[in-house]
Amino acid sequence: MIVTIDGPAGAGKSSAARALAQRLGFRFLDTGAMYRAVTYAALKRGEDLEDTRAIARVAREISPELVLTGDSVLLADEDITRAIRTFEITTATRHAADCPEVRSTLVDLQRQLADGLDVVAEGRDQSTVVFPHAECKIFLTASEEVRAERRYLDMVNRGEHVSRDEVLEKQRERDDRDSSRPVGALTKATDAIEFCTDGLEPDEVVERLMEIVADRRKAV
Ligand code: DC
Repeated sequence: MIVTIDGPAGAGKSSAARALAQRLGFRFLDTGAMYRAVTYAALKRGEDLEDTRAIARVAREISPELVLTGDSVLLADEDITRAIRTFEITTATRHAADCPEVRSTLVDLQRQLADGLDVVAEGRDQSTVVFPHAECKIFLTASEEVRAERRYLDMVNRGEHVSRDEVLEKQRERDDRDSSRPVGALTKATDAIEFCTDGLEPDEVVERLMEIVADRRKAV
């Protein structure tokens, strides 16, 4: 069974999807981590992120070396779990996400990693582009303010120096980009179940997701 969870930045997708995968015993595919890993590798190699050919090459080259264990992200033998979550990488990842060749490489990788398995796949285009035949599609949202506050607290907890306003402004820019890119834009699939997490504790979100999956399992 494939469960896809798409939605805007900061809706609580990652932690909810990870916990859901754990509860179900499914593989967890954090696809945002893949775009982040490409960005991290490109910056480390000193590539110009505006150079789409260079960034596409980096994506092709690192794909076989990228390991997502559910809890951590490894690039070759380097643990990049934390390094890909910085404000710098979060902001710079738009170049990888906007590049159709990078998307095509990562979409192939995502399908390959899911092949023959039960999977919870989380991102922006999982329900629409990567797994259009997924048995259970969820569109997870939250209000702009709630999402920005979660991101802000996340970053402060990781010791980053950012202001609430800065986080909100960058989030607005990312929302615009995520929903307007020509390939792989964030849109709600017509057959996705929309679920707003405002005012819910993380545990309550996971419980509700478990119910949604159980209902879909009965239906398919
Ligand atoms: O979900 P996240 O914040 O880790 O995603 C990082 C970036 O990658 C964000 O700018 C959106 C983009 N992304 C994407 O374009 N497609 C995906 N399937 C997942 C993430």
